[in-house]
Amino acid sequence: LDKKVRQNNQEPNNFINYKKMSENLAIVRQRLNRPLTFAEKILYSHLDDPHGQEIERGSSYLKLRPDRVACQDATAQMAILQFMSAGMPSVANPTTVHCDHLIEAQVGGAKDLARAQDINKEVYDFLSTSCAKYNIGFWRPGSGIIHQILLENYAFPGGLLIGTDSHTPNAGGLGMCAIGVGGADAVDVMANLPWELKAPKVIGVKLTGRMSGWTAPKGKSRFRRNIILKVAGILTVKGGTGAIVEYFGKCPGTETLSATGMGTICNMGAEIGATTSLFPFNDRMYDYLAATKRSEIGDFSRVYAKELREDEGAEYDQVIEINLSELEPHINGPFTPDLATPISKFSEAVKANNWPEELKVGLIGSCTNSSYEDMSRAASIARDALDHGIKAKALFTVTPGSEQIRATIERDGQLQTLEEFGGMVLANACGPCIGQWDRKDVKKGTANSIISSYNRNFTGRNDANPATHSFVTSPDLVVAMTIAGSLHFNPLTDKLKDKDGNEFLLAEPTGAGLPDRGYDPGQDTYQAPPAKRDAVSVAVSPTSDRLQLLQPFKAWDGKDFTDIPILIKCQGKTTTDHISMAGPWLKYRGHLDNISNNMLIGATNAENGEANKVKNFTTGEYDAVPATARDYKKKNIPWVVIGDWNYGEGSSREHAALEPRHLGGIAIITRSFARIHETNLKKQGMLPLTFSDPADYDKIQPFDKVDLLATEIAVGKPMTLKVHPADGGAAFDVKLSHTFNAPQIEWFKNGSALNTMAKANA
Ligand code: F3S
Repeated sequence: LDKKVRQNNQEPNNFINYKKMSENLAIVRQRLNRPLTFAEKILYSHLDDPHGQEIERGSSYLKLRPDRVACQDATAQMAILQFMSAGMPSVANPTTVHCDHLIEAQVGGAKDLARAQDINKEVYDFLSTSCAKYNIGFWRPGSGIIHQILLENYAFPGGLLIGTDSHTPNAGGLGMCAIGVGGADAVDVMANLPWELKAPKVIGVKLTGRMSGWTAPKGKSRFRRNIILKVAGILTVKGGTGAIVEYFGKCPGTETLSATGMGTICNMGAEIGATTSLFPFNDRMYDYLAATKRSEIGDFSRVYAKELREDEGAEYDQVIEINLSELEPHINGPFTPDLATPISKFSEAVKANNWPEELKVGLIGSCTNSSYEDMSRAASIARDALDHGIKAKALFTVTPGSEQIRATIERDGQLQTLEEFGGMVLANACGPCIGQWDRKDVKKGTANSIISSYNRNFTGRNDANPATHSFVTSPDLVVAMTIAGSLHFNPLTDKLKDKDGNEFLLAEPTGAGLPDRGYDPGQDTYQAPPAKRDAVSVAVSPTSDRLQLLQPFKAWDGKDFTDIPILIKCQGKTTTDHISMAGPWLKYRGHLDNISNNMLIGATNAENGEANKVKNFTTGEYDAVPATARDYKKKNIPWVVIGDWNYGEGSSREHAALEPRHLGGIAIITRSFARIHETNLKKQGMLPLTFSDPADYDKIQPFDKVDLLATEIAVGKPMTLKVHPADGGAAFDVKLSHTFNAPQIEWFKNGSALNTMAKANA
């Protein structure tokens, strides 16, 4: 294990540290004295303190040292802006940025890419220069979708990766523990803080039986989506939350899957809320590593192979067995990925529910299903149709997962087949999967059906038309249904008519898992950070409305806060969407001041039951929440927010913590917090506090003033909130609890976690 094997072909100085991992594991094994699952092995071998870390699945918080960080372009902006404010010369851990979310599909690959480069120029320039400055690998627009690029270049068995995108688990197809996180977590790892994760439970999935062609002898199919459906069905909705789904056992099931196929299954595990999913290292992964010019990694993994799977007798929190031969293809949707109908019953369901029968558009690709294998199988079905003299009846789009895939299918002919069939080949990017689709064929508001091989189909996600019935299924089925142009078509049983009117049944799709002639890398879309980075200056226009450099937040002045107002007393659910809305605001993700105009606009004011309408105590006027906060800030008046139960649930969006801090808030006082948001607030130098007696929430009225005795802050000690009722009643004290530990108190004192890092690095 002493060998120096590089993590990838791009970075000359980053190596796979199996030696250190095995040493850490030895320490943990001695302490736990029990067989371990593969997921546990990866996590525990990346512990910051293997000797002292408390380890209890489902309850302790692990402090981890991931091998890598990956960000997509939408989330990278604020992550890098925050990192910059720490004042470090370069990222502390290997990091890459991938431009895939901002390219709108309109007329096809090259033109769409050129337009995106123009529209998003300032964002791309910022990302490209900041990556060069801080030693981050930059994948330019057109390179491909983050998860495909990670699989092709960076994933390695046994590694730990965090990525600022929910489908990061895709890298589990190469035995990597890859976890989707918020930007604040990525910044921690970039800045060398340990990354905290609640020790996940581990659900073991044993695959038996075989995946086979379109119709196996028993009339079943190889639809990988159904493995997840089956897992979800057994676990029930949200059953994967807080758990890693680990496929295990040397069974024929896993051997009929390609590495990219395993990636697809791990990718879709995100839909059941799993922390991640992963497969143990096997020969199919070795083959994929070799095909992507990483045989040395494959050989090294073989040396460490014993630790790249579960121990004999490892115990799972739950075990599920799935017989691949018994799975029936399903179509999911509309409007939600967890409404599943077996293909045999789909036509009936279309009638019963009055779903629009005509299929308007079929879309294949996305990070879920855009491997060489997926594209080859899709092309084989299209070729079959063309050989019968027919083409796609519905509109048809193809998203290659990466430039490498695009160039390889162009060289090998699949791309031409898909175009001849009627397909529009889009840029190598997320495109319609993330709503980047300038759809022209139906008017907004018109009910219609589309079907894709993507992983999500929430209302309006693809084309911003709430009346679009979006279904998701395998790429094989998408192509087949596109030929028929109807939701009633079942390619397993129904015949099509050829150009002469003769009936035929589509042949089983076929496609190689890996290209016989190796991959064609296509255009070089990677920008390596230069060796000399001092002279690089980061491009941010001072007049930009999309990007703004961050100023470090002010340190605490060491005094109590007295006689300060309550900006808003929130009532009921206050999610991160209520605190920092998405939709059109996404455009301002890199501009803290502009995006702060959405702060708490979705929260319900307990005083009047309305959203975004609070009284400014200095003027007596009602105004929007952000406008009122800005006015207080201008007048140097700090403020607090009072919140209800589970304040900040939803996502890990760091903007929800940055905005109140930016607009002058000092504390959020609630009945309880969603944990991630609570930590995010602490990171930004805010005080997340809870009523020691939740009933005290009712004692405080929206127009009361408060004194917050911040000087009392100490680990495990409550703090006092003195309330001065607006009605002139006697002042009274309320006890507030908090979960600050000693290092986190420093974050508060220094103004933020990043200020603390910057101080340590000064
Ligand atoms: Fe992109 Fe859709 Fe995947 S948005 S990262 S292709 S889920």
